[in-house]
Amino acid sequence: MGALEKMLQASNSLATCVDRIRADFPILNLKIGDKSLVYLDNAASSQMPQFVIDRLVRYQTTQHANIHRAVHHLSEVATHEYEVARRKLQHFINAREDKEVIFTSGTTDAINLVMHGYGRKFIQKGDEIILTHLEHHSNIVPWQMLAQEKEAIIRVVPINDSGELLVDEYEKLFNANTRFVGLTHVSNALGTINPIKEMIAFAHQRGVPVLIDGAQAAAHLTVDVQALDCDFYVFSAHKLCGPTGIGILYGKAHQLEAMQPYKGGGDMISSVSFEKTTYNTIPYKFEAGTPPIAAAIGFGAAIDYLSNIGLDAIAQYEHELLTYATERLSIIPGVTIIGNSASKVAVISFTMDGIHPHDVGTLLNEEGVAIRTGHHCAQPVMQRFNIPATSRASFSFYNTKDEVDALIEGIQIVKKVFLS
Ligand code: ALA
Repeated sequence: MGALEKMLQASNSLATCVDRIRADFPILNLKIGDKSLVYLDNAASSQMPQFVIDRLVRYQTTQHANIHRAVHHLSEVATHEYEVARRKLQHFINAREDKEVIFTSGTTDAINLVMHGYGRKFIQKGDEIILTHLEHHSNIVPWQMLAQEKEAIIRVVPINDSGELLVDEYEKLFNANTRFVGLTHVSNALGTINPIKEMIAFAHQRGVPVLIDGAQAAAHLTVDVQALDCDFYVFSAHKLCGPTGIGILYGKAHQLEAMQPYKGGGDMISSVSFEKTTYNTIPYKFEAGTPPIAAAIGFGAAIDYLSNIGLDAIAQYEHELLTYATERLSIIPGVTIIGNSASKVAVISFTMDGIHPHDVGTLLNEEGVAIRTGHHCAQPVMQRFNIPATSRASFSFYNTKDEVDALIEGIQIVKKVFLS
């Protein structure tokens, strides 16, 4: 057992191990000018521990070849490691079978795969798709493209002033034409955790399949796709301490088998002639061409790293950070937190009276504090609150209360510069 595992076992909270955890992340030692980096942009992308970096280096230096194509030693090793990574993802989300895990280039690619593979086959003129006001653009725009092509209709679940979905209104949107639901697990802009299990059950009682955008959830909450009973669940590695350019589409086997392929090419076929091509079985039917093999193996290592710490411990500690940061921010005059659901991950969007979020972000950067400012690829959320943008601090298990304090001090400096 490693030193970190022993510390984790002996403690009630990650708070006592956070220095040890931070030592795993070389980038957290960076200086921005003469200030220590305070990285609070984890909803956009999280940082990578040395364990994952080492795994990528080991793959590239001793294991790389193309997969599923040759009998030579390296090809067999690379194929094995790639499929091991798939099984790690399977167990991480408790999928029934490894073939239900499709490697994609990320969340956006996975949603586009479902739109093309399921939507273009099964959604017709006059059919209705339910989305929510909390969706990221990547779970809106593909469905708008489909609706335009098929003359289908998009219905939108509204939210209340706390940034929570109005579940009663969701239920009222269903009718005989409802064919599909696309729903985010966690809002990237506000942090709201949606009651997806109940919403999935409601859709299924009416025979409607549900896709869950898990991009902001999978790094922060335990995800069990069998317990949720979702038809599709998608997320990206780079928000889970893994590499960019890789993510997964989980789909129930029968849904994936019924879908048409989205991309054609090598590896996704079982035979090709100019007269007739037949497709491979799942998951390969949806993995045309050489995939990002190193990234998939790095994703597997990131899953090992997170699983070693434990998602329940991560959720508990991040909640402590959220509570502390919310208390400190909410008493600063002129600061308004947007999104006050009782059920949130550690994401805080806020506005400051008389100061544009881009100015907030720029000045905080001078203090070494990295946050995201803008509409967060969720313009409908901004429209709902009648604001052009917010400043967003988003936390990970390697952040500390001292870093919350650095954010608060930075905000006081922003106020002094702009308002005095
Ligand atoms: N979707 C990512 C975010 O919310 C990039 O910042």
